Amino acid sequence: MKQSCLTNTQEHENEYSFIRQLVNSLTHFRMKYKLLVIATFFVVSDVFGHTNEMVINTKEIQATIQPTMYGVFFEDINYGADGGLYAELVKNRSFEFPQHLMGWKTSGKVEVLSGGPFERNPHYVRLSNSGHPHKQTCIENEGYFGIGVKQGEEYRFSVWARLPEGSQTSKIQVELVQPDSKAETQTLAAQNLILDSKVWKKYQVTLKPKTTNAHAMLRIFLVSPHPVELEHVSLFPVDTWKKHENGLRKDLVQALADLHPGVFRFPGGCIVEGTDLETRYEWKNTIGPVENRPLNENRWHYTFPHRFYPDYYQSYGLGFYEFFLLSEEIGAEPLPVVSCGLACQFQNNRPEAHVPVAELQPYIQDALDLIEFANGDVNSIWGKIRAEMGHPAPFHLKFLAIGNEQWGPEYPEHLEPFIKAIRKSYPEIRIIGSSGPDSEGAQFDYLWPEMKRLQVDLVDEHFYRPESWFLSQGNRYDRYDRRGPKVFAGEYACHGKGKKWNHFYASLLEAAFMTGLERNADVVHMATYAPLFAHVDGWQWRPDMIWFDNLNSVRTASYYVQQLYAKNRGTNVLSLTMNGKPVAGNEGQNGLFASAVWDKSNNTIIVKVINTSDKPQPVSLVFNGLKKNERLTNGTCTRLQSEYLEKDNTLDDPTLIYPQESIIDINGNRLDVEVDAFTFFVYKWVKK
Ligand code: AHR
Repeated sequence: MKQSCLTNTQEHENEYSFIRQLVNSLTHFRMKYKLLVIATFFVVSDVFGHTNEMVINTKEIQATIQPTMYGVFFEDINYGADGGLYAELVKNRSFEFPQHLMGWKTSGKVEVLSGGPFERNPHYVRLSNSGHPHKQTCIENEGYFGIGVKQGEEYRFSVWARLPEGSQTSKIQVELVQPDSKAETQTLAAQNLILDSKVWKKYQVTLKPKTTNAHAMLRIFLVSPHPVELEHVSLFPVDTWKKHENGLRKDLVQALADLHPGVFRFPGGCIVEGTDLETRYEWKNTIGPVENRPLNENRWHYTFPHRFYPDYYQSYGLGFYEFFLLSEEIGAEPLPVVSCGLACQFQNNRPEAHVPVAELQPYIQDALDLIEFANGDVNSIWGKIRAEMGHPAPFHLKFLAIGNEQWGPEYPEHLEPFIKAIRKSYPEIRIIGSSGPDSEGAQFDYLWPEMKRLQVDLVDEHFYRPESWFLSQGNRYDRYDRRGPKVFAGEYACHGKGKKWNHFYASLLEAAFMTGLERNADVVHMATYAPLFAHVDGWQWRPDMIWFDNLNSVRTASYYVQQLYAKNRGTNVLSLTMNGKPVAGNEGQNGLFASAVWDKSNNTIIVKVINTSDKPQPVSLVFNGLKKNERLTNGTCTRLQSEYLEKDNTLDDPTLIYPQESIIDINGNRLDVEVDAFTFFVYKWVKK
């Protein structure tokens, strides 16, 4: 660090001695004097230029920063829901995949039948005696890339079962096994279940594996000679988030809660639109008893050009009730997105793929009913269903997005009737429109004025962009119209050119770019990085914020950037100048980016400084406007840095890049520091 500083000083020494020699060589006294004054001016401003003086005016309290400012966006991509956040361990539990035994292996006599107890998931299996003395009838589920189980933890197995006509009390054995390719399989846990009912009945038993295994299988053997019929075969860890039975994976929700998100956008993304309208996300199919939530294709089963997951479906076990509950439990405002009647335009943009505007009413009614489901009285139709599911109190929905990444004239045409209907029945709901899939260009330029014309409350912008874009966009929102709709940066992530994966440098540029969101909090009200989750064995999109396998998860450097912003959000922007000029937030200022906020709840001043350059830089933080008896105390400096610009945390090394906090004192109102190259700093003091 010091070395580069010395080098700077030596360079200046050379320049100054040249000036001194020049001045000495002049004989005329007045000329000599004038030149000396001019030279002194240049020397002084040069020195100031290199100290990077950041002046924070603690009295100049600016825009309010919305509590929703930093949030999360969830989509079932990369096995984010089934196989991820949703803790169900059995794949195709209702035998409703198009090939009914997808995900299952069978031996002996197994038949798939229809007409079971759940009308929207009618298929079930019958297990009968194989007729061979050495062949036991059995079904085995492979889970999602195996079934992850931990030694000594409890797993709740449940199944709906019935004895077929003529059958007597029957017995099955439920096992967790570790398949061994070479020799015999090893049993991790086993339990017997006696089945005694001629009508469909739910049975339950707990399994406790004796060893940990990331790729176990679930086996169900028919033990007795009498046949049995099985439906909705399920296995959950008992220790889910808050121990909910239809629960979520604890480590993954904990990661969300630790982000302190202000808003939670769900359920997508492109899956809202579906591959076509038939497979769009229909929230009404995702509520009520899980056994009767119909299966839907996942639009992400195929990603151009190389990834194909034919068995990627949505069980809807994680549905809208669970999304609202999760938002509440992690303290985030729920922000659902509903279909606007346009199919995914990337996949299917023929006019006949979309609903004609005149036929939009059922879609509009879905949006209105959703508001009632979230907020309605327990006596309302949909509020009653919410109450029956366990939440009589409203979820206090405030925001609703209509459409995801739509574009073209068809989008405003479809959006307009939604807006009219929602404004009429629920004027308090804030409506979010879209500026399409691009961060600039023809669609963006067309859609923003359209969103203004339609008077949406917020416009959802998406930008998955390279490093050069993030470096140059720190001042993007400085130029925005303050009177129009507010901005929701609903999906964004930085990636390197040809390096579409998580790495520290990309996250550093996200941090730099976010100074611009923060400084423009009067116009930017929400921002959510995307995508959120990815399974290491089944991803379709990179980079992502949190990676996981069947047992563990890892928080990336981008995660820590988001967390540092959310935990240090502040309530108001503070005025900040760099070298006498308002911070422009682009690469022009020595690669330095900064923003300052005040948190009125605890009278804290927070300054974020990001050095995106490859050199350490001297920075002076000067706090103007402090009263005579006011001091900045309890100072901390948190830094996020890595010597490996192209690396990120991994499951094997989850804390390679991790925020480090230290104490920092300030004497008076000025702090002179040298900020390391490629580092994100958060400075924080309490004003007393
Ligand atoms: O986040 C991945 C995808 O990116 C989302 O589904 C979509 O909205 C965008 O194109």
